[in-house]
This record gives sequence, structure tokens and C-alpha cells, in this order.
Amino acid sequence: MDKLTFICFLVLLVLPLRGADKDFQDQFKVVAKLDNLEVEEGDDELFEELLDIPFWESQRGSKNLVNVDGFGATGDGKSDDTQAFVKAWKQVCSTPRSVFLVPEGRRYLVNATRFEGPCSNKLIIQIDGTIVAPDEPNDWDPKSPRTWLGFYNLTNTLFQGKGVIDGSGAKWWAASCKKNKSNPCKGAPTALTIDSSSGVRVKGLTIQNSQQMNFIIARSDAVRVTDVVVSAPEDSPNTDGIHITGSTNVILQNCKIGTGDDCVSIVNASSNIKMKNIYCGPGHGISIGSLGKDNSTGIVEKVVLENAFLRGSTNGLRIKTWQGGSGHVRSIRYQNVRMENVSNPIIIDQFYCDSPKSCQNQTSAVEISQIMYRNVTGTSKSKNAMKFACSDTVPCTNIVLNNINLQRTDGTVETYCNSAAGIINGYVKPSAECLSSSDKDMGTIQENEDDITTTRSEHIIHTEL
Ligand SMILES: *[C@@H]1O[C@H](CO)[C@@H](O)[C@H](O)[C@H]1NC(C)=O
Ligand SMILES: *[C@@H]1O[C@H](CO)[C@@H](O)[C@H](O)[C@H]1NC(C)=O
Ligand SMILES: *[C@@H]1O[C@H](CO)[C@@H](O)[C@H](O)[C@H]1NC(C)=O
Ligand SMILES: *[C@@H]1O[C@H](CO)[C@@H](O)[C@H](O)[C@H]1NC(C)=O
Ligand SMILES: *[C@@H]1O[C@H](CO)[C@@H](O)[C@H](O)[C@H]1NC(C)=O
Ligand SMILES: *[C@@H]1O[C@H](CO)[C@@H](O)[C@H](O)[C@H]1NC(C)=O
Ligand SMILES: *[C@@H]1O[C@H](CO)[C@@H](O)[C@H](O)[C@H]1NC(C)=O
Ligand SMILES: *[C@@H]1O[C@H](CO)[C@@H](O)[C@H](O)[C@H]1NC(C)=O
Repeated sequence: MDKLTFICFLVLLVLPLRGADKDFQDQFKVVAKLDNLEVEEGDDELFEELLDIPFWESQRGSKNLVNVDGFGATGDGKSDDTQAFVKAWKQVCSTPRSVFLVPEGRRYLVNATRFEGPCSNKLIIQIDGTIVAPDEPNDWDPKSPRTWLGFYNLTNTLFQGKGVIDGSGAKWWAASCKKNKSNPCKGAPTALTIDSSSGVRVKGLTIQNSQQMNFIIARSDAVRVTDVVVSAPEDSPNTDGIHITGSTNVILQNCKIGTGDDCVSIVNASSNIKMKNIYCGPGHGISIGSLGKDNSTGIVEKVVLENAFLRGSTNGLRIKTWQGGSGHVRSIRYQNVRMENVSNPIIIDQFYCDSPKSCQNQTSAVEISQIMYRNVTGTSKSKNAMKFACSDTVPCTNIVLNNINLQRTDGTVETYCNSAAGIINGYVKPSAECLSSSDKDMGTIQENEDDITTTRSEHIIHTEL
């Protein structure tokens, strides 16, 4: 059923009930709102001019080219090129209309470095070669425990090129407490961080094998990431692909992400996030959260995902919150998503607990409402193709399911609900009657060919997948 038909369907249902069923009218408003949820893509004019021409070759381009090689970088993958990068940055940042160039065909070994703005307007960071991190955790600069290449305070800046940012993370992964419980649990660096910036565009780069998260967008506004590839092994711990925190008006488009953790994770104080044409796998899915850890407040609103393909990931579309948190996740629309061999294709987990100790049930929770899943199809690896595990005291409300078809190659699929209420429309398989009542602990609706039975609830997954 397409969007228009769906609206008509709702109008037809609502009209005779006018005044009679307030709940239903409210539901109608929610669906219409989610239907119309749009994330402005902003004005891209600024960058068109920059993207068009091979500016540094063009006499008329009048760009000031700042090549790291000109500052003593060797690009042999062995010598420390950090100082050359720092000097080149100093020069490029203060020069109008300039290009920071990392030339192709070479490997530059660079330690943890802060690239700070404000810089002159319309800076271009052209990465065509490979930037690698030192691979030995024991040699890491203790002053920068969580960041490798950190960019701060930039406005109207373009990162582009066919180059690679490589965190050389293997020894960090082996030293993780997720790999070996006798290791201490310590954070590791993020390969690329863009922080406190606005009007940033990142185009075409590959970010790989980060020590921990691959790419963080923090405290920034108007960031657009296109044609970016993020890659790390399936078993590399906590190597999130793209992590968005405290940021607004972020667009991720045409990105291919395969890692050992979330392909995308969107956390606190983030809103107006649009993801379009995203490939995820392997990885832990496209996540909102985790939120609410240590009784904190988490707020994420207005997120749209359109056209995604997830293959072999442990989750598909996931919202995860810790117990004891506060705040909310609201106004989310997932549309046209294809899953293949995904363990938990649709999951809301308000009992998330990624900690060596088990987590206590608490009364407060991050409130989850107005979540629309539309046109989600494909195969589930687990029985619970849809799982809405919501807090007993703070139920999930207004979950909208419209045209869902999740199958399993062998065996039946089910929907699990705890304390979740919603609206079901169109073909929805597995059936999700447990959502259409707001009763708590409805149990599981088990779908066999034509026999629907209800079983009592089973254990909620309490650990990271
Ligand atoms: C849902 O999927 C169908 C079939 O793939 C497509 O025709 C329709 O446009 C989609 N609906 C929306 C709202 O994108
Ligand atoms: C930078 O990395 C090199 C090579 O790994 C190392 O020898 C050097 O001590 C590091 N410098 C700093 C300041 O961390
Ligand atoms: C950004 O620049 C402003 C103005 O120069 C400065 O006050 C601020 O500390 C900078 N922030 C960061 C994160 O570097
Ligand atoms: C885990 O780490 C301990 C201490 O470093 C080591 O003795 C042990 O062999 C490691 N186990 C595995 C499975 O690597
Ligand atoms: C979440 O963001 C809000 C608003 O910026 C802030 O007040 C709060 O401290 C943040 N919570 C956490 C856990 O950082
Ligand atoms: C969170 O709040 C609960 C209930 O008030 C309390 O028992 C717990 O210690 C708090 N946890 C933290 C990490 O502050
Ligand atoms: C599904 O994933 C498992 C690994 O989790 C793999 O062994 C299997 O071949 C995959 N099946 C398909 C059809 O891709
Ligand atoms: C927490 O609550 C959930 C949902 O009611 C229940 O399934 C689970 O057993 C509880 N866990 C603990 C540790 O009490």
C-alpha cells in the first residue's frame, strides 16, 4: 500500500468515528505526522562550486595548495609524519581558499593529532593517499586516549578524496575486555572525529580498522556524508561505523558500512538526521542509542531512514535504552528497508545492558513513541523478527507498522511485545496483534500457518549482540 492509499484508508476509518474515538483520532494524527516527517537536506550550493573542478590543477581555480609533502612528510608508512601534518594544517587553516592535500599512492604514519579551527572559509581537505595510525597501543599518546584524527571548530569545510583513513586497530582489539575478560575495560581511540563544526561535507573517503569507533560526528550542525565506506572486521569490538552525538541536520547518503558494532549509532541530543541508501553488514545494525546509561537523560528526535539494505547483521533497525534513564526517542520513520539474514530485524530494547554486571529493573526509562516502520521486508535469522521489549512503567506508544514482511528460511517468525502499543496497517508478517492493545505483558503471538496461539513472555535479551 502506498502512502496516499494509506492516508485514505485512515481517513475512511476516522471519518465515521469522528468525536467517538479520541484515541483513534490521535493515532491518525500521529501517522499523518510520521508520514510527513521530512528532514531538510539544506542548501548545498556552497559545495557545488568546490566539487565541480579539479581545482588545484586549474589555473583559474586560484586555490592555494598545501601539500603535506612540502612540509617534510615522507609517506613511506614508517617514518612519523605527524609534525608535517601539524605544520601543513597551521598553514592551510590560515590561508583563504586553500586545499590540504594528502597525495595519492603513499602511506602517511600519523599519531593522534588535533586539527583545530576556526580556519578561513571554504577549506578543502583532499585525502587521496592513506593515513595510518601507529599500531602499538603502548606507544599511544596518553594525552589523547580517545581520539586519533580530531577536527574541531570548522565551518564550511569539505573533506573529500579517494583516500583511506586506517586506524590499524588489530592490537587494540586484542587488548579489549570484550575479547578477553582478563583485560581491563578501557576506551580506545576513534579514527576520525568531527566536533563542534558546521557546514561540513565528507565525500568519498574510506575509513577502516579503527581502534574503536570509526567516525564520530559530535556537537555539530549541517553535516553531510556521502559515498563513504566504513569497514572493520565483524569481530572487532565496539567499532561503530558512524556515530552521531549532540548533532543536528546530519545527512548520511550512499554509505556502505560493515563493522564489529553498530553500522550507525545515533545518541543523545541529536535530531533531524536523515539516512538514505545505506548498506549495513556485517555489524550490529542501524541503531538509535544506547541512551539512558547511569540514569542519564537521552533525547533523539526526527530521524528518517529511507532505502537501506542490511545483510548478516545481528540487528536491523534497533532502538536501545538502559533502564533508569529519562528523556525520549520520538518521531522516527524507517522506510523501504530490505533485510537478509538479520538476527533481530526490528527491535526496541529498553532493557539494554552492555555491562559485565547485570542491570537491575528500574521504574524510570527513556520514553519511546511515534516510531514508524514501513515497507520492511526480508529474512530473519531468529524467531523474533519483531521485538518490542518496552519498560513496564514507561510503555512504548504509537508504534506504526505498515507493510512488513519478514520471513525465516526454516521455521516460524513471531512478534514479541512487552508493554508496547501501536497501529498496524497493511500486510504485516509476522502478525503483531500484541501491539494493538496497550495491555502490559501480552506475551508472544506465535504465527503458524493458520493457527495463532499466545505463549507467555520469554527472556528479554540483556546483553550486547
Ligand atoms: C513500498 O514498497 C512498494 C513496493 O516495493 C513501493 O511500490 C512503494 O512505493 C513503497 N512505499 C513507499 C511509501 O515508499
Ligand atoms: C608517534 O608515532 C611514532 C611511531 O609509532 C612513535 O615512535 C612516536 O613516539 C610517536 N610520537 C608521539 C608524540 O606520540
Ligand atoms: C572554537 O573556537 C572558539 C573561538 O575561537 C573557541 O572559543 C573555542 O574554544 C573553540 N572550540 C573548540 C572545541 O576548539
Ligand atoms: C587473556 O589474557 C590473559 C592475560 O593477559 C592471558 O593470560 C590469556 O591467555 C588470554 N586469553 C586468551 C583466550 O587470549
Ligand atoms: C543529553 O543532552 C542534553 C542536552 O544537550 C544534556 O543536557 C544532557 O546532559 C545530555 N546527556 C548526556 C548523558 O550527555
Ligand atoms: C540510578 O537510580 C537508581 C534508582 O534511584 C539508583 O538505585 C541507582 O544507584 C542509580 N544509578 C546510578 C549509576 O546513579
Ligand atoms: C546467514 O548468516 C550465517 C552466519 O551468521 C551464515 O553462516 C549463513 O551462511 C548466512 N546465510 C545466508 C543465506 O546468507
Ligand atoms: C525486568 O522486567 C522485564 C519485563 O517485565 C522482565 O521480563 C525481566 O525478567 C525483569 N528482570 C529482572 C531482573 O527482574
